[in-house]
Amino acid sequence: MKMNYRLKTLVVAAFTMAIPITTLAAPAPIVIKFSHVVAQHTPKGQAADYFKKIAEERTKGRVKIEVYPNSQLYKDKEEMEALQLGAVQMLAPSLAKFAPLGVKEFEVFDLPFIFDNYQELHKVTQGPVGAKLLAKLEAKGIHGLAYWDNGFKVMSANTPLKNVADFKGQKLRIQSSKVLDSQMRSVGANPQVMAFSEVYQALQTGVVNGTENPPSNLYTQKMHEVQKYVTLSDHGYLGYAVIVNKKFWAGLPADIRTILEGAMKDATAFANDIAKKDNDEALAAVKKSGKSQFITLTAAERNQWKKAMDKTHKENVGRIGADLVQEVYKATGYSPN
Ligand code: LMR
Repeated sequence: MKMNYRLKTLVVAAFTMAIPITTLAAPAPIVIKFSHVVAQHTPKGQAADYFKKIAEERTKGRVKIEVYPNSQLYKDKEEMEALQLGAVQMLAPSLAKFAPLGVKEFEVFDLPFIFDNYQELHKVTQGPVGAKLLAKLEAKGIHGLAYWDNGFKVMSANTPLKNVADFKGQKLRIQSSKVLDSQMRSVGANPQVMAFSEVYQALQTGVVNGTENPPSNLYTQKMHEVQKYVTLSDHGYLGYAVIVNKKFWAGLPADIRTILEGAMKDATAFANDIAKKDNDEALAAVKKSGKSQFITLTAAERNQWKKAMDKTHKENVGRIGADLVQEVYKATGYSPN
């Protein structure tokens, strides 16, 4: 089609005018890849999405947060390596997964029965001990931003776990924590370390008989569909530290870093606000599904678990550090049997 002279002039003018506009176009946004292993509808999944939303709004397009849930990008061990290599910038691994980084002290959070409730937990995560632990990451090229709550763990299996004797010979999946290994051995079980993304299938095929997790993880991974019994034991805690590649974080423009720190503060409040409710709802949904039967423990039965698992504390004092263990006991009021 032939353009008439007037139209041609207009097209040329438009292109000419467009040149300065493209020259002034905003630079490409800073991309932060945030990888995690759980479903979106979990305390961590929702908090990561909330952080993305407010961080992008407040930085007005200068930062883009790409959240990759459900081990889409990396599994447990790989994501830690990816962070150190700079292939991802942000993670929120469970506190039970920090030893491979060389920071075994985080396993203090895995000690059985150490926290009775969120208030006791917050005395550590929101106090000087929590800050001191995050500071230990710096030497590993990692900067710790915050602690995000999840919740207290239930124990699930295909046979009822009520008395300590019921654990004998059970193959139970654990996260990669030596303290959790000791905990399971203390009751006669056979712990197996496995990436979170592999747990459902391992339970389904009988590679392991059972596991422990907060209800939000049990439900969103559909573990309850392949577990006949869920013991409401609250015998331990599972939560997260949000971490970034230190070099990347230090290299951000100062104003951006300040905005992101503010967004992280608000996302942390959001995470800690929804964690209990999410877990309560997940438990109700598991119950409603009728797929697994709930077991509640009497005070005496729970005390029997506590007594048996107590040696986990002594066995791991050397690994975690005696001073740190004492500081946490002091903050939470835990007293060994
Ligand atoms: C697990 O591996 O069981 C949990 O750490 C998963 C998670 O991130 O909550």
